[in-house]
Amino acid sequence: ALPGKTIPKYRDPLPTFAGSRVPASPGYTVSFEEFRQQVLPASAGFGTTTVWGYKINDNGPLWPGYTVEATKGVPATATYLNNLAGPGGTPPLLQKYLTVDQAIHWADPFNLSCMFTPMAAGCFDPYNGPVPAVAHLHGGEDKSDFDGGPEQWFTPNGMRGPAYRTYTSAGAPLTPTNGAVYNYPNGQEATTLWFHDHALGTTRLNVYGGLAAFYFLRDARDTGRADNPIRLPAGDQETEIVIQDRQFDSAGQLLFPDGFPSGLNGPPTNPTVHPFWIPEFFGDVIVVNGKSWPYQNVEPRRYRLRLLNGSNARFYNLAFIDGVLHSAPIWQIGTDGGFLDAPVPIVHPGRLLLAPGERADIIVDFAPFAGQTVTLMNNAKAPFPSGTSADPQTTAQIMQFRVGTTVTGNTDGSCDPAASKKSGKQCVLRATPMVKLVTAKGTTAPGVTVAKRRQLVLREILGAGGPLEVLLNNTKWSGIMESTMGTTNTPVAGSTQLVDYWLTELPTLGSTEVWEIINTTGDAHPIHLHLVQFQILNRQPYQANKYLSAWMAALTAAGKGPGDGPPNPYGTALTDTLSIGGQNQVIGGNLLVTPYLQGSPVPAAPNEQGWKDTVVMMPGEVTRIAVRWSPQGNPIGGSVGYPFDATDGPGYVWHCHILDHEDNEMMRPYIPVKP
Ligand code: C2O
Ligand code: CU
Repeated sequence: ALPGKTIPKYRDPLPTFAGSRVPASPGYTVSFEEFRQQVLPASAGFGTTTVWGYKINDNGPLWPGYTVEATKGVPATATYLNNLAGPGGTPPLLQKYLTVDQAIHWADPFNLSCMFTPMAAGCFDPYNGPVPAVAHLHGGEDKSDFDGGPEQWFTPNGMRGPAYRTYTSAGAPLTPTNGAVYNYPNGQEATTLWFHDHALGTTRLNVYGGLAAFYFLRDARDTGRADNPIRLPAGDQETEIVIQDRQFDSAGQLLFPDGFPSGLNGPPTNPTVHPFWIPEFFGDVIVVNGKSWPYQNVEPRRYRLRLLNGSNARFYNLAFIDGVLHSAPIWQIGTDGGFLDAPVPIVHPGRLLLAPGERADIIVDFAPFAGQTVTLMNNAKAPFPSGTSADPQTTAQIMQFRVGTTVTGNTDGSCDPAASKKSGKQCVLRATPMVKLVTAKGTTAPGVTVAKRRQLVLREILGAGGPLEVLLNNTKWSGIMESTMGTTNTPVAGSTQLVDYWLTELPTLGSTEVWEIINTTGDAHPIHLHLVQFQILNRQPYQANKYLSAWMAALTAAGKGPGDGPPNPYGTALTDTLSIGGQNQVIGGNLLVTPYLQGSPVPAAPNEQGWKDTVVMMPGEVTRIAVRWSPQGNPIGGSVGYPFDATDGPGYVWHCHILDHEDNEMMRPYIPVKP
């Protein structure tokens, strides 16, 4: 391995996309490709690195791909093509570096089923075949046919996952054999979405290779142009920033731990079960927009930064710090799913925490730092929150902003997030306040009826050397055609959808549910739900050790073990009943956490009181989220409908956005059902 601290920092400018974003409408084509990119500084003697990335129309290929820009209310059609192959259809070069673990449940084109018979011949070998890949628009309110979920992959040679779907209607682009066509209504609020690979069990590798890009959804107020009605910094003063950690070998190529103890993360911790999977990947090189430790030249004025944590497992706790430890105030204006009601200063604890998958739309004013250098710093431990401290020489540093001394046009005409309402200079982020499912005090908002409360458990399953996997509600991923209930393609009563999965979450369309997620592990997990934007209700500490032992006793009493679901019948009132093939199945309940709660519920921090699709769940806490299975723009008590049938198609997933967890069972399918 190439030690990160030997790579000189701040040699190359940050790649930016102002002026080169690609319009989404009416349609665009995204090709997944392998190519070489200058990631490490050429001025330090480094050559190019073989990576994967997106080519969007004629732009690229690039890691991260060019930003796609969509407009609210204007549908777009994306044609995705998997061209991740070498000459003559041979596997691409990077496949050797990104070792697929065939013993985890993955998008195996040849259906070797190593997860059922792991000792079968070939299961402990590195995979050497066509690369399955698929693109998911993270945060999108989209039909599940076009969600790009884990079973919707396709290969360069025309093989397709069991939930593969493509958009076929009169006038739609023809579907190439190595691709899929997705239709996005873009009906939700203006925000920072992103798209990235989501193939089952190989997402961590495909995203690590470089398959990720931004998708900005604009509207009439947030136009992205200099004359935008909100007066947000725009043009060269609006920058997308995706932070990722990587590791390189001595030849400057991407290194992913694969059984050779040369990596930062060492060899796999349970090699007799998972020959190549490691619980969390952490690299010692910070790469921003595909460049190691870049810098950006900025003017002494306000900038709008669209931050995304695109790392596998690393959390970032961010601050903008000059040479003498003054930090620039951060004003958060948007969360995953839209604008906040008003800009929120990040005052407590003074840093912005960003977990994998989360976005933050922020304003930073560089005016006080004219002529100086401001460094974006990180102090999050890995794993978060109680692992190894960020290394001052490497992972504690992200990128530099070199602040000039003059402002083009002499003045900064952007709105001032610090200004009072009376001044006329304040940022009016929204035309109408957000629809509130929760109050600032951490209770459900007036008029919101909670149809169901679910208590769900995050649980780590340990093997000899550490985690074997982390599970949602002690339940593994259940894929199409692998239903433990043995029935496929059976309609759920009252709806026309097909049940291909062993489903445990069947929320009713239009209803609001509270999910109380009990983290019994020692690490924080960013939990992500597809289709919906939701809100954090509150977080509450609980007696984790006591609860876990009682929960384990209940599990044992129920004759269940790891992966067998929650200790049913405790708390069955919290569960769904699913009718399959005429049989009613009660799908597990948990030992109620209620008697183990401590203190009182703590509302979300002000900068988290917006629409979220990915939320940090801390160890020792119950995190409650309010989820409404309805488009985010609907008023409370308003109409239910999505601009498509959400009950149709192969369904959605919810999962941990630590990619190494998501790839190894920390993911579950769900389908909203018609009332
Ligand atoms: Cu960003 Cu299911 O993913
Ligand atoms: Cu996790």
